[in-house]
Amino acid sequence: MSPELQIDHHGRLRHLLTLEGLSRELLTEILDTAEDLEKALRGPEKNVPLLRGRTIMNLFFEPSTRTRTTFELAAKRLSADVLNLQMSSSSTSKGETLFDTLKTLESMQADMFVVRHEASGAAHFFAQHAAPGVAILNAGDGRHAHPTQGLLDLFTIRRYKPGFEKLRVAIVGDVLHSRVARSDIHGLRTMGAAEIRVVAPPTLVPAGIEQMGVTVCHNIDDGLDGIDVVILLRLQKERMLGAFLPSMSEFHRDFGLTRQRLARLHPEAIVMHPGPINRGVEIEGDVAYGPQSLILQQVNHGIAVRMAVMAMILGQTDPAPRSGKRRLRRRA
Ligand code: CP
Repeated sequence: MSPELQIDHHGRLRHLLTLEGLSRELLTEILDTAEDLEKALRGPEKNVPLLRGRTIMNLFFEPSTRTRTTFELAAKRLSADVLNLQMSSSSTSKGETLFDTLKTLESMQADMFVVRHEASGAAHFFAQHAAPGVAILNAGDGRHAHPTQGLLDLFTIRRYKPGFEKLRVAIVGDVLHSRVARSDIHGLRTMGAAEIRVVAPPTLVPAGIEQMGVTVCHNIDDGLDGIDVVILLRLQKERMLGAFLPSMSEFHRDFGLTRQRLARLHPEAIVMHPGPINRGVEIEGDVAYGPQSLILQQVNHGIAVRMAVMAMILGQTDPAPRSGKRRLRRRA
């Protein structure tokens, strides 16, 4: 992808399609803006008028609970008008193409589309064909990228384990099918994480992943040794066309995060999972809701992080203007 597609000539976000290629400064600006917006959310008036009069359309061609609802909530907290299209009952089911769907919805003066699609590259396609001034946010495309999940994971790690450069992070499970793993790896590398380990059976590790700057480990006990942050991944059965595993119970035995394995981690190590979880497969229920788990905090952080991205792209970011005039950075 050409970097200019998502970054304009002033270095500002135009679309958010992937974390690959975004600078540490820009990622830090997004995380800092999310911190500011989260403070505003804690006040008596949760909504801020930063995107009043703007229209945001959520186009989810794949199921979602967390991403869709937190994008909607984030847009509402920014005072935007939000439309959630039921893509399964939209005219795409009658054969309308993605291009024609985009142009039809653009004619209603939408400012931003949030797109989740099963095809890798779908958000990129939307961004290539969007009218000038219309922004595309990738809410997950195939196995490729889930950039706002990557950002909320960085936000969560920074809050609970400050200092990326000393962190050792393990990403455990179905890396092969995981857009979250790719976005987390890009984000963690850019933020300077000391070590990123991918821990999975050989059938669930994409060929050549070492080129992303990670080490690969096929044994969970070795993979979790000395780790500060464990990011578990869901086994994506819906994307598994072949026999990747002997059985779910064998995967749990060999790679699941159990209480026994958790007890061998440092007591201050944190456990994360993008959700939804497969209880008793990649994680035990007690571990998912135990004291070291930040799974629900991750969900909550998705609101402020998605607010930050939407506000930055549409050009307004200061929730508490001191001069009485909001800082305004309108897009050309
Ligand atoms: N983490 C994530 O993308 O969850 P949903 O599929 O529920 O949106």
